[in-house]
Amino acid sequence: MDTASDNPFRRFTSFWLGLAIFFAFAILFVFLSPLLSGKKDQGVDKAAAARRMEIKKEMLNAQAGVLPVPVESVYGKAGGELLSVAPGAVEDAAQIVPGSPRALALAAVPDVKVDIVQTDPDAPIDPAVFEAGKAQYILCQACHGPDGGGMPGLAPPLANSDWVQGPVENLIRIQLRGLTGPITVSGVDYALPVPMIAQSFQTDEQIAAVLTYVRNSFGNKGSAVTPEQVAAFRGEVGKPPLTVEDLIKPEPAAEKPNDQ
Ligand code: HEC
Repeated sequence: MDTASDNPFRRFTSFWLGLAIFFAFAILFVFLSPLLSGKKDQGVDKAAAARRMEIKKEMLNAQAGVLPVPVESVYGKAGGELLSVAPGAVEDAAQIVPGSPRALALAAVPDVKVDIVQTDPDAPIDPAVFEAGKAQYILCQACHGPDGGGMPGLAPPLANSDWVQGPVENLIRIQLRGLTGPITVSGVDYALPVPMIAQSFQTDEQIAAVLTYVRNSFGNKGSAVTPEQVAAFRGEVGKPPLTVEDLIKPEPAAEKPNDQ
């Protein structure tokens, strides 16, 4: 019997022919697949990547212009400053036994009532103070959001807030003592699991600047806050966090966002 499969020469050539056809298809596939998957124009991708790098560089430069520290150490600095604060006593009023030494001690702490010189609500805001406040706002934005919109479960909004546009006494005292318990901001109720911690490590100038900034950003309008007004409340540092009952009730915000 002399069939093709018995012929060693035929078997040798068919083997190599099969291998050659296999590689021909493999090479064809390698060249065709980018075309088939629509990635034929690598140039467009490269241009887009270059543009993205350019935008990132512009963004970093712009941030470097307003931040008090290099962009890459912003969160380190903000975190370090927060950690440098002695932890404030956060107590649940319901847990304090009436008549206990703690209850008596708390009752004996009078809130500092100070008459401060109010600033003219129509006076223009000093741009240098506004810019300093914008830089200082880094401390707040982790919780209240870069646009003052607040963060679910973390902090209420500062945007269009009746508190922010209300008496400066409240805002200064919140900075110095922190705030805890339920709060209604521009008609919306918030019961946040965490209190706002005191930020009393800031200087009078920093607190005045950041409050002036938030009172005139995010849709808010309010008079400037001065370092002298802040200094008048320094005596409150170290006292337990405030609750809304300790604050002056603000007027309802003039401009309420209708689209929320
Ligand atoms: C760790 C998160 C956190 C940081 C940081 C923080 N806040 Fe708050 N803030 C809160 C919380 C939580 C409340 C609501 C407290 C409560 O439940 O009564 C609040 C409430 C407020 C309020 C009153 C309510 C409102 O929304 O108008 C103001 C004003 C305020 N914060 C300003 C600031 C400013 C200014 C800074 C930065 C200097 C700042 N906060 C930083 C968490 C934070």
